[in-house]
Amino acid sequence: VSQKPVYVVKDANGRIAVLSAVCTHLGCTVPWIEDQNRFICPCHKGTFESTGKVVGGPAPRDMDALPMKIEDGVVKVQYQFFRQLTPNKEVIA
Ligand code: FES
Repeated sequence: VSQKPVYVVKDANGRIAVLSAVCTHLGCTVPWIEDQNRFICPCHKGTFESTGKVVGGPAPRDMDALPMKIEDGVVKVQYQFFRQLTPNKEVIA
């Protein structure tokens, strides 16, 4: 068990999903900006909808969803690291 920043969101179908907070561009931590209802990366302004879908900036793909399951009301996440700067999600660790 380790501690990493993630976001628990609803995906486009209304299901719970867990997103890595690591930007898919160059790896900065992406904060949620409440008044803009978006995730906006502070490094180069990569912008993502609340579902993690990329909508602006240089990020090459959506925020990365992590494998997760819910057991006895607890969200359990398999944390993974992904290659940055690629349009396709590639697990590297
Ligand atoms: Fe996030 Fe560049 S590291 S937009």
